[in-house]
Parts: sequence; C-alpha cells; structure tokens
Amino acid sequence: MKRFLVTSALPYANGPIHFGHLVGAYIPADVFTRHKKMMGQKVIHICGSDEHGVAIIMGAQKAGQSCKEYVDSWHKEHKKLFDLFNVEFDFFGQTSASYHHEEVLKWFDALNEKGLIGPKDTQQLFCQSCSNHLPDRFVEGKCYECDYEHARGDECPNCGILIDPTKLIDPVCKICGAQNTKEVTVTQWYLLQSKFHDHFRDWLKTKKNNWRKTVYPFVESLTEKGLHDRAITRDLEWGIDVPLPEAKGKKLYVWFDAPIGYVSNTKQFLKETGSEEDYLEDWWNNSETEITHFVGKDNIIFHTVIFPVMGMGSGRIKPPADVPANQFLNLEGKQFSKSSGWYVDIKEALDQFGVDALRYYLLSILPETSDSSFTWKEFGLKVNGELANNIGNLVNRCLKFWKKNWPEGIESKHFVGFSETSHAKEFQSSLEKLHEFLEQKQIRRALEQVMSMGQLANTYFSDQEPWAQYKTDPEKAAYTIAQSGIQILILGVVLEPFLPGLSGKILSFFSEGLNKEDQQKIYRGEWKVIDELFQNGGKLQGKPKALVPKIEDEVIEKLQEKLHQG
Ligand code: MF3
Ligand code: ZN
Repeated sequence: MKRFLVTSALPYANGPIHFGHLVGAYIPADVFTRHKKMMGQKVIHICGSDEHGVAIIMGAQKAGQSCKEYVDSWHKEHKKLFDLFNVEFDFFGQTSASYHHEEVLKWFDALNEKGLIGPKDTQQLFCQSCSNHLPDRFVEGKCYECDYEHARGDECPNCGILIDPTKLIDPVCKICGAQNTKEVTVTQWYLLQSKFHDHFRDWLKTKKNNWRKTVYPFVESLTEKGLHDRAITRDLEWGIDVPLPEAKGKKLYVWFDAPIGYVSNTKQFLKETGSEEDYLEDWWNNSETEITHFVGKDNIIFHTVIFPVMGMGSGRIKPPADVPANQFLNLEGKQFSKSSGWYVDIKEALDQFGVDALRYYLLSILPETSDSSFTWKEFGLKVNGELANNIGNLVNRCLKFWKKNWPEGIESKHFVGFSETSHAKEFQSSLEKLHEFLEQKQIRRALEQVMSMGQLANTYFSDQEPWAQYKTDPEKAAYTIAQSGIQILILGVVLEPFLPGLSGKILSFFSEGLNKEDQQKIYRGEWKVIDELFQNGGKLQGKPKALVPKIEDEVIEKLQEKLHQG
C-alpha cells in the first residue's frame, strides 16, 4: 500500500517561531498531512529541532547557557507553540539526541566508503582581533552577487546563493565585531557532489513536470553545469564528532546532520510507538513511499540537491517525490525583523484572536507562488468578511434556529436523501476540486473551495427562508434546517485539515455517533453515511454560540499603531 512521508524543515532551536516559518513549512505540511489522514491514507509527519551549528553556539553564549540547556529550552518552546497552532507532528525530535548522532555516523561512513567524502585544503577567514576561525554565520559582509549588506559566510538571505566567505565584500567578525580578517588554509572534509552530477541530473529531470515553477527551473539551472563539492566539517566545539582519526576535534557541519534528522526521528518515532516497521525498509527506502519535504525557499538547495545526493549516494534512502517550497512572507510589505520592532508576537496574537482566525488568514495568504504580505487591515477584513460572515454566521443562525424550534430533535425523514439533492451535487464537485488542489499542494486554492461550499450553504439557507417557512409550513422548515444542518456538518468535516479547531467546534454539535471513520467517509464524499447518522433523528448537542468572533476596527487600528511605533 502506498504511504506518505511528510517532513517540515527542522526549526533552529535558537529563537522564536514567526509567521514566516509557519506559512513557509509547518502549516502547509500540517494541512497536507491532515488531508491524507482524512483520506484514510497511511501518512506520517516528521519534524524536530535543529540543534547544532554556529547560530546555536552564538545564541547560547549570549544567553549564558550551555548549548544543551539552550537548545532544550527552545525545543520545549517550539513544541508548545506548534501545539497552540494546531500543527500536529507524529514525532518532534532533537538532533542533539544520541539516536540522531548514531544515524548520522552511518551516513558518513556509507558516503565515505563509496568515495563520496574526501579532505581538501580550504581558504577560510580568520579574525585577527579575537583569534577565531570564522565559518558560516561567524562572518558577515556584502553579498558579491546582489550587494545585500548582511550576507553571511554560508549563504545570502537576500538572493539565496551559497556564499564563498572569502569572496564577501568587507567581511566583519560576528564574534567580536572587528573588521580585521585574514584568509587562512585549513583542511576540511567535503561531500564530493561533483562525482554524482550525472546521476543527480538524471534523477532531477524526472521532476520537470511535477515540481513547482518556483523550484524546478531554479534547481535545474543551478546544477546544469556541475555540482560543487561542499565542506561538511567545521572547527567548532558543539556538534557531532567527525568519525575519522585525522579529523580529531572537528564537528560535522549542521547542514550535513540536520536533514538526516528526518530519518533518525522516524526511527525514534517507530521505536517509541512500539511499531514493528523498519524506518528504512518500510519507510525511507520503500518503493511505495512518497516523500515530501515542506520547506521555505531559503532551504531549496539543501532539500533538492545536497540531501538527495546524500541519500542516493549513501544508498540509505530514496530521494523526495516533491519539495513544495514556499516563498517569503512579509509584514505590511517589509521583512519581519524582531530587532527593529517590525514583527508580531505570535503568542499575543493567539491570545487575542485565537488559532482559527490566525490560521485562516495565514492560509489565505500562503506564499505558494510568490512572496506575500501579512497586514493587520487585511487580517480584520478577511476574518470578518470571510470566516465570520461565511461560516461563523451560518452555523450560528442555522443551529440556533434548530435548537430553538426542535429542542428534542428533527425527525429522521427530513435528513434522508441528501446525497441525491442538487446541492449535494454542487458540494461534491467543490469537494473533488478541493481534493485535487490538496494533492497538488495548492492549499490556498483548496481553501477557496471550502469557502465556496460555505457560499452554497449560505445561499441555500437564505433562499429557503426557514424563518418564514416555519410560520406557514413547519415541516418544510424542518426539512430546510435538516438539509442545512447536513451542509454544515460537511463543512465542519472538510475544514478539518485547515482549521482543526473550528472543525472540532462545529462537529461537537453533532457529536452523537460521529466517529473518526464517519468523518473520513464524509471527507471522501461517501455521503450515504449521512442517512445512517441521522436515522434516529437529529438532535443538537450543547448550546450553539458564535464561533468566529468579529474583530473590531479599533482593535486593528491599535495593532497597526503599535507596529509603526516599533
Ligand atoms: N534549521 C533550518 C532552518 O530553519 C532548516 C533545517 S531543515 C533540515 O532554515 F532539513 F536540515 F532539517
Ligand atoms: Zn573577532
């Protein structure tokens, strides 16, 4: 049976998660995984903290903590935030854990045996003021491709190229702040990707027609002429020891070990859940497995080139089926920047508006095809005008009317035959499109289908005017409310991948007899099950209330002011 392995980029355990991260990887991966689960398919979503590398060392130094204390506390923090955001992982591990180190060494050995790792003398920058080697983020300077002022020694966050630190313009030491570097020669071990070029290109070409337009052409042109060998060792204190006597004291580069975290975390997941499956044979190296890496655009190269080369080259895993990378999210048109006050505190926002409103807005602006912008004004407009108006109000109006006029329930005969109605046909066609879009990971467009189902349900409700029907023909009104109720139930089900919170609230009104399997059937469009659900009549559970609170204009204005004051 086909199985799906979904990963989202392991977040660095060195700072808060912001909206850019959420829309770049975690929310889309969560929606896709939930969709697969609702379809009844076998799927796991694997993630965890990325806990090595220079950024972590620098963060721990600043915080006056050991690296381990530091990453553990961020790990906990991130886990909590994902929970609050209803982003669900089957496993969320840590790369500082010993199970991860063991797995990484296996990869190193396998690649080394195949001749894909070798030593080279390299030119690095050395700070003459504080006497430190300056790999990766220890050095910053002007990008020699795009002129961006704060390119780092490993990559330029602006244009995305991998940086040769010795070519940076006016390099500055990030440890002591001095502009006093010299080039020195050091030996590092390299992943010899150049040897793998032909093999890599043969594989890459098979992705031409199914990868995003923002991904395939970029990777294609980047790798057309050849693959660069890449240093995978560093002179650092924190990380995984290089398993070679000649490389004593050196650590593996964080980008070598981090993606292996997907694999080691899967192994640990199976172990902790008492599964008999093997992480490689049954999952990572199984011909039935479809691997999807959800990442932001700054991670494309690692997931489409380096990690696939490591996987195919070592023979440990197969390469991904898809890497649906997302573009960047800005805040009111400018890059998020915590240090200059241009950011939104996610936890405060969650407290203030709740997860459904935030998830809804973020989903509606996912940067799937181009960069997009979070604005408070649009947030208010969309939550009020779309989520509250379309879904919230309908649920409220219909269910209140139901509860008030049929507190003991509506007779079962009014629910029968929904799947034969013309509304059901329209619902079905939206549902099919929704499935199609989700399969293609076009989540924004899938969400639009949910909203158009909401429109259909609204139109039905207002056209029938059940409040007027009730006065002249209560039976007719009962039929309208029963059929509307079914439409709301379906909406509740199809909302699950997107807004699991709101979905749960809607479904709780129908809780009697509505188990996970029935929900999955409804999600798949097998609507015969609905007749069975209401065969003893339809009685509402609990007291219907407004599910999507409207956001006042003044609240939005205050948030805008606060942002602009910094
Ligand atoms: N920590 C990296 C980032 O936040 C992503 C690592 S993805 C992995 O950009 F594949 F290496 F795990
Ligand atoms: Zn220095």
